[in-house]
Amino acid sequence: AHTNKIIVAIDGYSSSGKSTMARALAARIGYVYVDSGAMYRAVTLYAIRNVMVNPDHTINKERLIAALPEIRISFEAPGEDGVQHTLLNGEDVENEIHDMEVSNLVSPVAAIPEVRSRLTAMQQSFGKDKGIVMDGRDIGTTVFPNAELKIFVCASAEERARRRLKEMTEKGEKVSFDEVYKNVVERDHIDTTRAVSPLKKASDAIELDNGNMTRDEQMEWLLDKFNSKVASL
Ligand code: DC
Repeated sequence: AHTNKIIVAIDGYSSSGKSTMARALAARIGYVYVDSGAMYRAVTLYAIRNVMVNPDHTINKERLIAALPEIRISFEAPGEDGVQHTLLNGEDVENEIHDMEVSNLVSPVAAIPEVRSRLTAMQQSFGKDKGIVMDGRDIGTTVFPNAELKIFVCASAEERARRRLKEMTEKGEKVSFDEVYKNVVERDHIDTTRAVSPLKKASDAIELDNGNMTRDEQMEWLLDKFNSKVASL
C-alpha cells in the first residue's frame, strides 16, 4: 500500500470535549480536522439571520430546505490561535456559531433530514482522500461507517455543563449553570431520539470516558489507539 492514511471518526455528546481532542489529534498527526457540529451551527445561523425562525421558536423548514443550495460552508486553516475558523458564504462566523441563540436552535435544525443529507455529502467529500479527523454525532455511524478508527466520547451531563459554562464565561457571555445544564440535557435528548442518524455509539467504536482525564492523558490515549491502528494496516 502506498499510503496508510486513515479516517478518524470521533463522536459523542455535546460539550464532551471531543472537538478540542479531535483538533489537537489532527494537529499532532498532520491530518485535516473538520468540526461537523460547526457545519450544523452555520446552517442554524443562516436560518436565524434570514428570519427562518418562527415566533414560537420552531424552524420554518420549508424555507430553510429551499435555501440549502445557497448555503456554502468552508473552513479556514488554523491561524496563530490554532483555531480553525468556520466560514458561511465566505464570512468568518466562528464566534457567532457558538452563541446561546444558535446552541438553542441547532438540534431542531440538525433533525431536518434534508439538512443532514446535504451536510453528510459535504463531509464525505472532505474525507475522500482520508488523512482526516472529523468529530460529531454520526461520523462513525453514517458519514464514515468504514472509518478505520472510531472513538465514542462520554462524560456526565454535569461535567459537560461545567465545561461549557467555563467556555462561555471566558468569552464574556452571561449565562448561569442551570441555563447551560438545561441546554445540554435538552440537546442530549433531541440528539439521541431524532429519527435520522441519532447519536449512537457505532458497534465498532472504542469508548472513552474522559471525565477524569487531563488533556495530555487524552492525547496519549488517542495517539496510542491511532498508532496501533495504523501499524495494524
Ligand atoms: O458538537 P456541537 O455541540 O457543536 O454540535 C452542535 C449540534 O449539531 C448538536 O446539537 C447536534 C448537531 N450535530 C449533529 O446532529 N451531527 C453531527 N455530526 C454534529 C453535530
